Amino acid sequence: MEFSTLPLFLIINFLLLTPFPLPHAVDTISFTTLGRSSYAFDIFALPTASPSQEVRLTFGDSVNFNGHFPPPQSTPFPTHLIYVTERNGSSQIFLNVFDYTTRGRGSSRSALELSTDSSRSEIRLIGEQETNGRISMKDRPSLAGADLIYISTHQDPGKPRSSWTAVYSTGLTTGLTRRLTPPGIADYSPAVSPSGALTAVASYGEKGWSGDVEELATDLYVFSTRDGSGRVKIVEHGGWPSWADESTLYFHRRCGDGWWSVFSASFDIVGGKIDAASVVTRRVTPPGLHAFTPAASAANKSFIAVATRRPGSEYRHIELYDVVLNKFFELTRPISPSAHHLNPFISPDSGWVGYHKCRGEANDGVGKGNDLVIENVRSQLPGLSLLRVDGSFPSYSPDGERVAYVQFPGVYVMNRDGSGIREVSKLYAFATSWDWKRKGVVYTSAGPDFSSESTKVDIVSINVDDEDLSHNYKTLTKGGANNAFPSPSPDGKWVVFRSGRSGHKNLYIMDALNGEEGGLYRLTEGPWSDTMCNWSPDGEWIVFASDRENPGGGSFEMFKIHPNGTGLQKVIQSGTGGRTNHPWFSPDGKQIVFTSDYAGVSAEPISNPHHYQPYGEIFVINADGSGLQRLTHNSFEDGTPTWSPKYIGPTTNAEWPYGGSKCQFEDCHWLNIFPNQASKRQCAAAK
Ligand SMILES: *[C@@H]1O[C@H](CO)[C@@H](O)[C@H](O)[C@H]1NC(C)=O
Ligand SMILES: *[C@@H]1O[C@H](CO)[C@@H](O)[C@H](O)[C@H]1NC(C)=O
Ligand SMILES: *[C@@H]1O[C@H](CO)[C@@H](O)[C@H](O)[C@H]1NC(C)=O
Repeated sequence: MEFSTLPLFLIINFLLLTPFPLPHAVDTISFTTLGRSSYAFDIFALPTASPSQEVRLTFGDSVNFNGHFPPPQSTPFPTHLIYVTERNGSSQIFLNVFDYTTRGRGSSRSALELSTDSSRSEIRLIGEQETNGRISMKDRPSLAGADLIYISTHQDPGKPRSSWTAVYSTGLTTGLTRRLTPPGIADYSPAVSPSGALTAVASYGEKGWSGDVEELATDLYVFSTRDGSGRVKIVEHGGWPSWADESTLYFHRRCGDGWWSVFSASFDIVGGKIDAASVVTRRVTPPGLHAFTPAASAANKSFIAVATRRPGSEYRHIELYDVVLNKFFELTRPISPSAHHLNPFISPDSGWVGYHKCRGEANDGVGKGNDLVIENVRSQLPGLSLLRVDGSFPSYSPDGERVAYVQFPGVYVMNRDGSGIREVSKLYAFATSWDWKRKGVVYTSAGPDFSSESTKVDIVSINVDDEDLSHNYKTLTKGGANNAFPSPSPDGKWVVFRSGRSGHKNLYIMDALNGEEGGLYRLTEGPWSDTMCNWSPDGEWIVFASDRENPGGGSFEMFKIHPNGTGLQKVIQSGTGGRTNHPWFSPDGKQIVFTSDYAGVSAEPISNPHHYQPYGEIFVINADGSGLQRLTHNSFEDGTPTWSPKYIGPTTNAEWPYGGSKCQFEDCHWLNIFPNQASKRQCAAAK
């Protein structure tokens, strides 16, 4: 066919889609997200009057969470649902519409009750385009008229260890997006008042994140939903606001007596403005159980919905709390006792309570988790594909064909397309790296992770092609003084690793074939911790994390040094108390990928399952310390990134051969602590 006979739009498409060589290399980075494969969340709802028929409101696909019923428009029924979905590798906001007209018009039963998969449709409200084409996390959406109010993380406040979360408003008819949070400030958990006029958030204000990973040290602020103006702090110490009416909201805080409890704050509005001096706060839920993430309803102010953790139960459940009778009514435990239920929300008619939990046939909530062993994650950088591997410490063989990873306890190898998964060692190990010259040789450190200098950890080399698992490895270090994070030199002769043998964790280099016995050199020396080292593919540099600027202070910066011990340079400063961990060189040695708390925490941790380091996100930086870029956006712990020597296209989703994970995860560990119930300590009801 002649080019000129093609319709014009096809020619344009052809020109746009032709893969011209990009100005830079095409690359692939893989990383892991802890716990993510266990999340198979859907949004469900229960009628408050007869909570026996649970209805699923999302489609049993992807990870769907943090729902909201917008105020009714044309029907008296809560027939719309807004929620966050993590599909096709990025966070998006969707609207589900429940069309009951074919079955239920005139019926007194609600659309939710009558809805079936075929009577619902889903509409994408927000994707990348509303955030100027930038990938970001989206969270806690709600509607104020035709404006969608939500959290996004697409703007870098430019300060290390500051959260990128801010509230935005996007007009659903105009497509215009505006930021409601002041520049440089992080806001969490926005809630729009019943009239839509006011938005409440949890925020650090000017003080910023101090490293908290349990309860965030946030205060509550209220501002005008229209333009963010009139911002006023109404409560010191609190999170997760929810409005009962224009001058009352509920929120949670961890009390002085140790219990997470729900509080109310009410205030006067004078001359159209909140009178901050009039705010009265009151503890609503009693000690004796944890109650958090409250949801209030303007239609019936006599109850709120909360998530609870009760002593004797390891599961998080949704309950109603009658604020007149001061009584709890359990909603979800009688229906699915052995499942976690998160982040309740109430329909505008107060007839339904929504929440998210694991989907699954069985109501035990254990169902099936994510099927993917390799999941494509949307990448901001042209030419870079980002792959989430469902295993820790992934690393690629030099030919790019195979991936090693660990899944405690055991070391595994698979083909780069996710096929051929095989256990290659039963050792309890962490970190993996491949020898550049000897085919099928993988280094790892065997022993417990996150341990002291004297812990028994040794470096082993594993021949992954040897079928006999009991004899396919060789221990290279002696003494077990926490010898870990091996990374071989590209000439195949040496391995750099960290060791606690001097009483401090420093870097050493040993013979790759015969280990310490073949030769051992000390690379760094000092009363601090040097760790997580990676040898550049051109052999010139070793990059590592170190707390040498403030030993024991908890702050890890990234440094690089020549293998002969010269040329020490700092690549990035983390900020006070900050972490830049697990650095890994790009194949051309010009960039380094790593995990960091540079972008703070992106959601109130209590609104998620447990994450040890909820701040973990993946970043790249040029090896000279310039050009920092954030690659991942979510509220989970992303870690242990690696660079593939070969490009793997961004369409590489690979399924686990035997079905993948179960939908099973742990609730926030600190909620397992039930303070002494007899404690009579008052919970400060600060103004
Ligand atoms: C996700 O990807 C599938 C397959 O490429 C596509 O059909 C679907 O429209 C995408 N969904 C969204 C929300 O982008
Ligand atoms: C409001 O909720 C309370 C507690 O669940 C219930 O007893 C009452 O009937 C409700 N009132 C209305 C008007 O729905
Ligand atoms: C150390 O190694 C670097 C990089 O290979 C090299 O440029 C430098 O000359 C070496 N210095 C010494 C003293 O050998």
